[in-house]
Amino acid sequence: MDRKGFLKQTFALCGLALIPIGVVESCKKQSFPGGANVNFTLDLGNSANAALNTVGGALVANGVIVVRASAGIFDALSATCTHAGCTVGYDSGSGHILCPCHGGTYNVSTGSVISGPPPSPLTRYSVTQSGNVLTVKS
Ligand code: FES
Repeated sequence: MDRKGFLKQTFALCGLALIPIGVVESCKKQSFPGGANVNFTLDLGNSANAALNTVGGALVANGVIVVRASAGIFDALSATCTHAGCTVGYDSGSGHILCPCHGGTYNVSTGSVISGPPPSPLTRYSVTQSGNVLTVKS
């Protein structure tokens, strides 16, 4: 059997059933956490959240980047870049949210796009503090 015949036989047996599934899966609309309901807490006494005890510290939890931009002020934004879905990070030097993939830059307070290819701002969430516990909500 030549190569063409082999491929025809292979697709006839199983490929035709798999290709449409793969096409459908790859064509599904990509969902970004920024559109989801957000409601979680972070205990600042937990060592996993220690970054938020320092001004300029940040962490990503549940698809949200939480930043301690100044003493007692926390910002929370979707951690998913609106351009192509990369996870953004906080640059304490510039005070901006940066995307490592194509250089998108966002305002940490508002989520608005400062520069780069992102087509829309990051979704912003509210952050409240009660004692050592931060609550992040849509
Ligand atoms: S994915 Fe963030 S700038 Fe392209």
